Amino acid sequence: MSTDAIVLLREDHNEIRRLFKRFEKAAEDATDTKGEIVEGIIELLTVHTYLENEVMYPEVRRLLPDLEDDVLESYEEHHVADLLVLELASMEPDAERFDAKVTVLIENVTHHMAEEEDDWFPKVRAGLGRKQLQELGARMTELRKTAPTRPTQPAAVKKAIDAVIA
Ligand SMILES: [Fe+2]
Ligand SMILES: [Fe+2]
Repeated sequence: MSTDAIVLLREDHNEIRRLFKRFEKAAEDATDTKGEIVEGIIELLTVHTYLENEVMYPEVRRLLPDLEDDVLESYEEHHVADLLVLELASMEPDAERFDAKVTVLIENVTHHMAEEEDDWFPKVRAGLGRKQLQELGARMTELRKTAPTRPTQPAAVKKAIDAVIA
């Protein structure tokens, strides 16, 4: 399996998009199914955000200072998603605003992932060597083993806050 950081992040994005599609295809009254899908979305996003906040964003910021503005915009986009994820994590799937909140989350995250893939990853790949991307990927693979899977776990909450105020 590749440890190229960008390849790994793309694989995460595809998995997240698969669950987004499943949610969108679910029937209006399939409350249990939608609740389960959203549990999965929350887990994938919590892990993915942790790896980006812990490894990818700070390292790119350090190694490629020209991309600082992109990283700062990413932190803000993640912050919006973090708030929605935190709210959804404590919401029942039959709540009046559940579907609407998931829809806004999907729109936000879809936009953010497209921006990373179409704009940011190419810049990062151009700026970092193959070896550096492999090293970052290996660090993320290692960190994934202990990454938080729920937004209420202390490591996830701390990262969400650090991402905005650090
Ligand atoms: Fe991101
Ligand atoms: Fe991402």
